[in-house]
Amino acid sequence: MKRGAERVHIHDVALRDGLQIEPVFVPTADKLRLCNALSRTGLDKIEVTSFTSPKAIPALADAAELMQRIDRAPGVTYAALVPNTRGAERALACGVDEINLVMSASDSHSQANLRMSPERSLQQFEDVVALVHQTPGAQVAFNASLSTAFGCPFDGEVPMARVFGLIERIAALGIQRITLCDTTGMAHPAQVERLCSEVLARWPQISFTAHFHNTRGMGLANALVAWQAGIRRFDASLGGLGGCPFAPGASGNVSTEDLVHMFQAMGVDTGVDLDALLAVAAELPPLVGHALSGQVLQAGPSTRRHAVPGAIGQG
Ligand code: COA
Ligand code: ZN
Repeated sequence: MKRGAERVHIHDVALRDGLQIEPVFVPTADKLRLCNALSRTGLDKIEVTSFTSPKAIPALADAAELMQRIDRAPGVTYAALVPNTRGAERALACGVDEINLVMSASDSHSQANLRMSPERSLQQFEDVVALVHQTPGAQVAFNASLSTAFGCPFDGEVPMARVFGLIERIAALGIQRITLCDTTGMAHPAQVERLCSEVLARWPQISFTAHFHNTRGMGLANALVAWQAGIRRFDASLGGLGGCPFAPGASGNVSTEDLVHMFQAMGVDTGVDLDALLAVAAELPPLVGHALSGQVLQAGPSTRRHAVPGAIGQG
C-alpha cells in the first residue's frame, strides 16, 4: 500500500462521546452552534448525539431537538448513537443519516453501560434493522460500534476471537460499517496492529473505523498504527473531550485537532481545515467549564512561526 496517497476520513464525536461525560448540561443552542460550525470544517461525519435513556445520559436529553435543528451541510453524514429499538424509533423520527448501534464486546461493561448482555444487544441490532426495513421511506445507514474491543476495565483482556465472532454476527445482519472502540484507552500499538490487520484481511467488504481514547497517552500512537495497517476512518473528539460515564477511569478521545494535525504534518489528506477546526475547539472551554486536553490547541500547529526575540541588550 502506498502510504499517504489515500484520503483519511475523520468523524467527530465530541457532541456525543465528548458531552455525555461532562457534568454540565451544555445548552442546545450552543450544541447547535458547535455542530453547524463543525459542519463547515471538512469533516466526513459528525456524531450529533445519542438516543439513549435521558436518565442514563442526562447531558444528551435534548437529542431530538438538536437533531432536528441542525443545518445539514452537503457531504456530511449526521450520525447518532443508538442502544436499542426505542432509540432507533426516536432517531428515525429525526431523520438521522446513520444509526450508530452500540454494544460492548465484554460482558461486564455491557451490563454496566447498557444493562443488557452482548447477546441481547445483538438481538436489539437485529430488531432495529428489521424496524428500519419495515418503515416506509426510511433512508438510514447503519454503523455498529463495538465498545471495549481492545480491553475492558472490569473483565480485562477481551480475546480477539471474541471480537471476530461479534464482527461476524454483526456482518450477518447486513451491517457493513463497524467501529472498533478502545473505550478506556487500554489498547497498545502492537495489539492495534494485529487486530486491525486481521479484521481488514478477513472482512474486506466492511468499512472499519478506529475509535481510540487517550486515557493512557497511547491514542495517537494507536491511530498511527491503525492507519499503517490500512484503517482509513477515525473517530476523534474536538478538544479531546470524551469518555463513557459507566466505565471507571474513562477519559477523553484522541483529539480531532491533534489527529488532523498529525496526518496533515505527514502529508496525508483528511479534507479537514485545521485552522477552522481549532477555531471551533477554542469555543469549548467556557461551555464545559475546564481546559481541554488537546495539545495542538495549546501549542498551535507546528507550521506556526514565532517572531525571533530581540537580541539581549538591543532595544
Ligand atoms: N431513549 C429514551 N428512553 C429510553 C430508551 C431510549 N433509547 N431506552 C429505554 N428508555 C426508557 C424506557 O422508556 C424506560 O422509561 P421509564 O422508566 O420512564 O418507563 C426506561 O428508559 C428504562 O427502560 P429499559 O428498557 O428498562 O432500559 P434500562 O433501564 O435497562 O436501560 C438503556 C437500558 C440502554 C436504555 C440504558 O442503559 C442507556 O440508555 N444506556 C446508554 C449508555 C450510554 O450511552 N453510554 C455511553 C455510550 S458508550
Ligand atoms: Zn468513546
